[in-house]
Amino acid sequence: MSAPHLSRRTALVGGLGLLAGPACGQSAPLLQVIAGRKGILFGAAIEPQSVEGDADFAALIARQCAILTPENAMKWDALRPTEAAFDFDGADRVAAIARTNSVPLHGHGLLWHEAMPDWLAPALRKGRGEGLLRDHIDTVVRRYSGVVRSWDVVNEVVERNDGRPDGLRISPWLKALGPDYIDIAFAAAQTADPGALLALSDYGLEYDDEPWMVEKRGTMLALLRDLLRRNIPVQALALQGHLIGDRPPAFGSGLKDFLDAVRGLGLKILITELDVSDQNIQGSAQGRDQIVADIYARFLEAVLTSGPVEMVTTWGLSDRYTSKSTFFPRSDGDGVRPLPFDFDLRPKAAAYALARAFGSS
Ligand code: G3I
Repeated sequence: MSAPHLSRRTALVGGLGLLAGPACGQSAPLLQVIAGRKGILFGAAIEPQSVEGDADFAALIARQCAILTPENAMKWDALRPTEAAFDFDGADRVAAIARTNSVPLHGHGLLWHEAMPDWLAPALRKGRGEGLLRDHIDTVVRRYSGVVRSWDVVNEVVERNDGRPDGLRISPWLKALGPDYIDIAFAAAQTADPGALLALSDYGLEYDDEPWMVEKRGTMLALLRDLLRRNIPVQALALQGHLIGDRPPAFGSGLKDFLDAVRGLGLKILITELDVSDQNIQGSAQGRDQIVADIYARFLEAVLTSGPVEMVTTWGLSDRYTSKSTFFPRSDGDGVRPLPFDFDLRPKAAAYALARAFGSS
């Protein structure tokens, strides 16, 4: 995959993989260029209002990202305020930002057991699930065909604690349609946009020393094998990559072997929601930044040296805009620092760790 289109200035400076400028305050690694040299699309999740309302952040996104993900704008609760109506405003605004930056989108996501509007579960219980799912996917995928290059078609469908032999999550979708809901989703997405890369997304696959994650890897492989055996058009596994700052990294041969097994099925590997929670890391911001950077480095070193990776996107790009502020705040009241760029849009140790990982992969 060639490096994405860059503005002349960016390309000029980017040839060095560094960017100097007042907005950054210091030279910042140009992550999309460094990753692009290895055929990897680097990008981030965004909310449209964060880019539209903040010119400095918009400039950082434009400089750093070769692909963008709508953090929330393409979820059911955003797109479907009622069963009868679609609301494409947020998703269209994200698509407009992608077009302005001449970059593609990673669509997130066509089916999830969360972010469901209040009317949806009752409608599923009334037997309207298959029609709703097919119509939703057909409408949304066709609308963004050409700007979305890849989709999280189904998200977080494995939950071993629900006790099913196949390890599938007992979600409203599974209750309504049985396991075939996954088949329906992928088939509908491929019909709507045969050119899009179709992924199955999940978390909790990253750590070698977490028994539940090791077991989940086995369940995930069995699921992917079964889908492929039945010619269901799953083409990629999207590892979310939500990593934990206050525990040692454990990204070793287990993770590499798992990724090799997934590639052995003919599937591509996407890292789609990478971040490192510093909610419970003790110490100064500088010390926390170094721990976070080391975890980014260890994870990416394991993933990138295991074999080809299609894309790496972080779940936000700057600590100025991260949902972890809301959902995983620090008890000491300090701002959270999970992302490569700080609140003032300056590169942190994590940004340089990403650059080194891409550069050495
Ligand atoms: O936009 C509304 C706003 O109008 C309203 O005033 C406010 C209070 O109700 O809610 C706002 O919507 C929130 C939205 O984030 C935007 O901030 C939703 O309530 C809230 O549920 C939503 O949380 C998102 C969460 O997924 C659930 O959709 C997070 O931002 C987002 O980071 C998180 O991302 C997920 C991935 O999609 C899947 N993998 C895990 C990852 C982290 O949980």
